[in-house]
Amino acid sequence: MKKFYLTTAINYVNDDPHIGHMYEGIVTDVIARHRRRMGDDVRFLTGTDEHGQKIERAAAKEGVLPIELADRVVGVHHDLLKRLNISNDDFIRTTEQRHRLGVLEVFRRIQERIPDDIYLGEHTGWYCQSEETFIPDNQVKDGVDQDGHKVERTTEKNYFFALSRYTERLLTHYRTHPEFVWPPTRLNEVIAFVEPGLKDLSISRTSISWGIPFPGNPDHVIYVWADALINYLSALGFGSVENANVAKYWPADMHIVGKDIVRFHAVYWPAFLMAAGIELPKRIVGHGFWLRDQQKISKSLGNVVRPYNIIDDFGADALRYYVMREMVFGQDQDYSDQSLLTRYNADLANDLGNTLSRAIKMSSDYFAGKTPPTPCDDNDLLREARALVPQYLRQMDDLAFQRAIETAWQLLTAINSYIVTREPWKHFKTKGADETLSRVIWNSLESLRIVFVMMAPFIPASVREGLARLGSDPDRIGVQALEWGGLPNSVPVRVADPIFPRADVAQYLGEKKMSDAPQAVPPGPAKISIDQFMDVDLRVAEVKAAERVPKSKKLIKMTVSTGDEERTIVGGIGTKYTPEELVGRKVVIVANLQPAKLMGIESNGMVLAASIDGEPSLVAVDPSVPNGTRVR
Ligand code: MSP
Repeated sequence: MKKFYLTTAINYVNDDPHIGHMYEGIVTDVIARHRRRMGDDVRFLTGTDEHGQKIERAAAKEGVLPIELADRVVGVHHDLLKRLNISNDDFIRTTEQRHRLGVLEVFRRIQERIPDDIYLGEHTGWYCQSEETFIPDNQVKDGVDQDGHKVERTTEKNYFFALSRYTERLLTHYRTHPEFVWPPTRLNEVIAFVEPGLKDLSISRTSISWGIPFPGNPDHVIYVWADALINYLSALGFGSVENANVAKYWPADMHIVGKDIVRFHAVYWPAFLMAAGIELPKRIVGHGFWLRDQQKISKSLGNVVRPYNIIDDFGADALRYYVMREMVFGQDQDYSDQSLLTRYNADLANDLGNTLSRAIKMSSDYFAGKTPPTPCDDNDLLREARALVPQYLRQMDDLAFQRAIETAWQLLTAINSYIVTREPWKHFKTKGADETLSRVIWNSLESLRIVFVMMAPFIPASVREGLARLGSDPDRIGVQALEWGGLPNSVPVRVADPIFPRADVAQYLGEKKMSDAPQAVPPGPAKISIDQFMDVDLRVAEVKAAERVPKSKKLIKMTVSTGDEERTIVGGIGTKYTPEELVGRKVVIVANLQPAKLMGIESNGMVLAASIDGEPSLVAVDPSVPNGTRVR
C-alpha cells in the first residue's frame, strides 16, 4: 500500500476560523478522501499555530491568557472540522509537548551537524508589528510596507540561521524537482526570490510563529516550520506511543498552504530540513485566496465570512461543493452569498438532486420500489461514463478539482438528455415495464451511481445518502466503484424528500443570512456637515401593529404612527423581538428613506437599532415623547 501524507498550514488562533481556513481544510480533505479511495494509506494532519504576538495581542484585548484564547479557538476548530466532515487523522497544537520536543530535536540536529548554521548576531531593519517580521528595505516606503502596515527601525541581538548557505542547494532542488512547488507560477516566484542569493534568517524573538525557548536562552524562541516534521520526530521516540508508527509517512507528500506562505514552506522550511539532514517534503501546493470585493478575506480587514450559518442552513456539503466548484484551485476567487445560493440551487438542488429524485421515482413506480431487473452493458451512457471516468481521474491527479466536478456534471447532463429523449414515462404507458424500460432506467440509475461515486471526495455525506437511495452500498466509493455495472438489480430504492431542498434566495439575501459581516468595514465614515445630517429625517414613532413576514426568521412588518400618518415599515428585528412586544413601543425611524420592497412588502422607512454581532437592539426614547417628534 502506498503511503500518502498530507498537511494543511497550522491556523493562527487569534480569532475564530473563517471560510479561508476552512477552505484549506476542505481541499486537503478532498485530496485525502480521493487518495484513500484510490487505495493509498493516507495520513492527514492539521492543527493550530498558537505562538506569536498576534495571539498575545488578541488575548490581551479579550483580557485572557493566550492559552485560554487558544483553547477556545481550538474548540471552534474541532467543532468545524467535525461538522464539515473533514477526515484529519491528527490535530497538532504548537503548545503541545510533542511539538516542542520536535522543534527542539530539529534544533539539536542542526547544531550537531553544522554547529554554526545557527549563530548569535545583531540585526537592524524595518520591523513590522502586524506581520511580526522584518521587511526588506526595498519594500518600505514612508514608514510603511507594501501592504500599508507601519514599520519601525529596530535593532535586535538574536540568533540567525545561515540561510545564505542554502541558496545553491535550494536552486538545484527546484531544478531537479520542478514538481516541488505547485502551481508552476509559484515555483517561478520562489526561484526569482532565491536566485539573487538568500540572506541569513533572523530567528528573532519577535518574529516567532512556532516558538519554544531557545536552549540555554529562555528569551529567545525558535522559528521552525515543524508542523509536519513533528510526527516524524515523534516517531523517533520523542512523542507518544500513538505516533510511534508515523515515521513511515515522512516525507510529506503534500503541504497544502495558501499562496501567502508558499515562500516559507518552499524556501525556509526545506533549508531547515537540509540543515538537520531530514528528507524534504515532496510538494508544496499553494492555493489562492477567498476574496470579498477583490480583497483577501481576513480578520484584519473585517470582511470575514464564517461558515457556521451556511452549514446550519444548507449542510456541510453545500459549502464543500461551493468552494470546490467555484474556485479554480490555485487561483483567487470572490465569495458572495448570491453565487453560493445560485450554485446550490442550480447544481445541487436541480441538476443532482432532481435527477436523482426523478430517476428513483421512475424506478420505484415502474419496478415495484426496486432497481430494474435487467442490467445493460452496451449503451450510450456506458460509453459516456467510460470516456469520462479516466478524464475525471486525471483531473483529480492534476488537482484540477473544478474540472473534475465539471466532468461529473457532463455525465449528469448526458443522463438527463438520455432520459428526456427516451421518454420512459411514455414507454411505460404504451408497453409497460418491459426489458427495454428496465434497461433504460437501470442505465440511468447506474450512471447516476457513478456520478455520485465521482463526487464522494467532495460531498461525502450526500453521496452516502444518494448511493443508499439508489440501492447501492454507501461504502462502495473506491476506484473500482467507478466502473460500469456496480448497481445491483431488483434491490429496493428509496423515494424520499429532496437531498438538497431548494433555497429561497430572496429570503436569504433579504435577511443577509449567511455571512456574519456581509460588507467590508469601510475605513471609517467620512465627516458630514450639519446640513447633511439634517437631510435625514429622524422621527419618533409608535408601533401600532406588528406581524412576522411569512417564511422569514428575521423580518417583521410593522404599522407605525408618526402622529398624523401611519406607514408600513419592514425591519430585520425578528430574531430579538416578538410582534407582541413591539406593539405600543416607541421607536426612532428614518422617515424620509426611499421605499424599498422586502419579500414583496413595500417598506417606507427604517427603524433604528444597534447591531451587536448581528443581534438588533432598538433605539429607545422616553414613552412620553409625542409621535412624530423630530430627533436630532
Ligand atoms: N500560522 C501560519 C501558517 C503556519 S504553517 C506551518 C498562518 N496562519 S493563518 O491562520 O493566517 O492562515 C492559515 C492558512 O489559511 C494559510 O495557508 C492561509 O493562506 C490560509 N488563509 C487565510 N486566509 C485565507 C483566505 N482568505 N482564503 C484562502 N486561504 C487563506 O499563516
